[in-house]
Amino acid sequence: MCGIIGIAGQSAVADRLLESLRRLEYRGYDSAGIATLVDGRIERRRAEGKIDRLAARLAEEPLAGTTGIGHTRWATHGAPSEANAHPHATDRLALVHNGIIENHAALRKELIARGHRFSSETDTEVAAVLITDLLAGGASPKDAVAAALKRLEGAFALAIVFVGKPGLIIVARRGSPLALGFGQGETYIGSDAMALAPLSRRIAYLEEGDWAEVTPDGATIYDEAGRVVARPVRMAESTGALVGKGNYRHFMLKEIHEQPVVLGDTLKGCLALDMRLPRLPPLAFKPEEATRWTLIGCGTAHYASRVAKYWLEELAQVPVESELASEFRYRRAPLDPKGIALFVSQSGETADTLAALRHCKANGLHTIGVVNVPESSIAREVEVSLPTNAGPEIGVASTKAFTTQLAVMATLAIAIGLARRTIDEKRARALAEALIEVPARMTEVLARAAQFRTLAQTLAAARDVIYLGRGTCYPLALEGALKLKEVSYIHAEGYAAGELKHGPIALIDDVMPVVVLAPPDHLYEKTASNVEEVIARGAKVIFISDARGAAQFKDRALATVEMPDVDPFAAPFLYALPVQLLAYYTAVLRGTDVDQPRNLAKSVTVE
Ligand code: M6R
Repeated sequence: MCGIIGIAGQSAVADRLLESLRRLEYRGYDSAGIATLVDGRIERRRAEGKIDRLAARLAEEPLAGTTGIGHTRWATHGAPSEANAHPHATDRLALVHNGIIENHAALRKELIARGHRFSSETDTEVAAVLITDLLAGGASPKDAVAAALKRLEGAFALAIVFVGKPGLIIVARRGSPLALGFGQGETYIGSDAMALAPLSRRIAYLEEGDWAEVTPDGATIYDEAGRVVARPVRMAESTGALVGKGNYRHFMLKEIHEQPVVLGDTLKGCLALDMRLPRLPPLAFKPEEATRWTLIGCGTAHYASRVAKYWLEELAQVPVESELASEFRYRRAPLDPKGIALFVSQSGETADTLAALRHCKANGLHTIGVVNVPESSIAREVEVSLPTNAGPEIGVASTKAFTTQLAVMATLAIAIGLARRTIDEKRARALAEALIEVPARMTEVLARAAQFRTLAQTLAAARDVIYLGRGTCYPLALEGALKLKEVSYIHAEGYAAGELKHGPIALIDDVMPVVVLAPPDHLYEKTASNVEEVIARGAKVIFISDARGAAQFKDRALATVEMPDVDPFAAPFLYALPVQLLAYYTAVLRGTDVDQPRNLAKSVTVE
C-alpha cells in the first residue's frame, strides 16, 4: 500500500517526482525515496518518515537526472526505516513496488543460495535482486522483467530503472493499479491519476497483468502473455491543484465542516430536486428485480453500508447482507446470480473491496459502486458507479466520504423501494424531503462544534470509551469507536445498546465514558433503558439526543448534547457529526498526528 511515480523525461525530474509524491502520501507515509539516472548511473535519496523529510534530504543533496522513479511507503515487510525505504537498488537497477510479493521468502532463500546479498527486510528487494540475477545472466531489461514476473506471486505494481539505460522505465501491474500519462516528449507513470495531474491529463490505465516499456516517446504495453496491446487513452478529470487546508488547522476538521456543502452536491446528483424523488442513472439491468443485495466495503465504508442495510431492508423489503470485504472475498459464500453486489469505497482502490468486486463479477452478479474517486479502479470496474461527490478527502479519517456514501445509499434505497412498490410516491417524497433538510441541520450542529471540544476533555483522559446506539445508530456507534481509535489512539468499542447486557456491561465502571447516540426514533425508549443500566453502574454518560431526550438525562448523565429535530430516517447523517467532532477534538488534546495517524494510510491497497 504505497505510492509509485515515475518520469521518463527530457528535463530534471527530482522536484516533479517530489511534488507527485506529496499527492501520493495518502497511500502511506512511513518513508519515501527517489532514484534517478545520472549519466547512466543510478543515484538515489531516501528518508524515513514523511515526504518533508525526503524534501529536506534532497535540499541537502539535490538529485540530477531526467528519468527517475519515486515512492512513498506504507510498511508491510520490514520496519519503517531508511534501509527498508524504496527505491531498492542493486548494481544494475533501482525498483519501487506497491503491494506484496507473497513468495518473497522462498525467492530470497534461492537468491541467497546463488550468492546474492540483501540489505533490507522487505519483500520488494527480492524482485530487485531476482531481476538483477536475470540481467547478470545476459537477459535484456525487457526479458529479465518478463521472466521475473512469471516467478513473482502476489498483488503488486512495479517500476524499474536500469543502469546504462537512460530514458527507460519498465513497469508492471498485477493487482495494484498503475496509470500511464502522456506528455510532450515525456511519459509518466503513477499509482493514480491524481499523482499524474500536474504532469498530464492524458491517461491510460494498465490492465490486470499488463507491463510496459516506458520511454520519453511513449509506452509499449504488453499483456500477461507478452502480446503488444493498446489501452485507451482518456482525459482525466483530476485537478492539477493540491488541495489545501484553508483556515482549518487540520484536513479532518475542514472535511467535517465541508459536509453540508458536499452532501448538498451529492443529493443534487441523486435526487430530482424539483420532483423530490430519487434519480438513478440509466442501468442495463433492473435493480428492483434483485433477489438479494450484498453491500461490501472496509472500515468506515463498511459502516456506511451497515446503515444502508437498515434502509434497503425497510424501504425495499429485500434481503440485504453487509459484508467486510476482507472476509467476504475468501468466504466462498454461495452467490445468487440474481443478486446485486454494491461496493462502497472512498478511494475506489481498497484492495480487499476491489478483489471482492472481481469475485462477484466472475460469479455473474450485477455490480454497483458507491465511490468518491471517479478515476479509481472500483469506479471503472463496476457496471454502474454512483459518485459520492465529496471532493478530495485528504485526512486519513474518513468523514465527509461517510455521510456522502450514506446520501447515495439513502436515495438508492428510496428508489428501489419505489420501483418495488414497497413504498409509495408520497412516502418517497417525504423521505427525500428529510434528506434535503440535512445540510441545513448539519450546519446548525457544526455551529455548536465548540461543545464537543469541551466534552473531548473527558474522552482524552480516558483509557477506554464505549459507544452505544440502536438501529441505524448502531453502525454509527461502531463508526464513532473507529474514529476515536484511529485519530486519538484511545481504545474504544461500539456496541448495539441492547447487546451490552450480554457481556460488555462488565466493562462499565465509574471511570468509563459511554457515548450514547439516541435519536428520537421508535427505539428511543429501549436505548434509554440501556442508558439507565449503565448509569446505575456509575458510567460517565455523554447522551446525544433531541431536546426531550437531553432533558430526560440532564441530571444524571455527565453531559447531554441536544441535536436538531430531524426525521429519524435522516438521523445517521446528523449523529455522524458528534462522533467525528469528539474524535477530532480528543485527538487534538492528545497531540496526535490527526491527519496522518500512526500506522495508517488513506488508501489500503494491500490485503
Ligand atoms: O477508500 P475506502 O473507503 O475503500 O477505505 C476503506 C477504509 O480503509 C477506510 O474507511 C478507513 O476505515 C478510514 N481510515 C476510517 O476513517
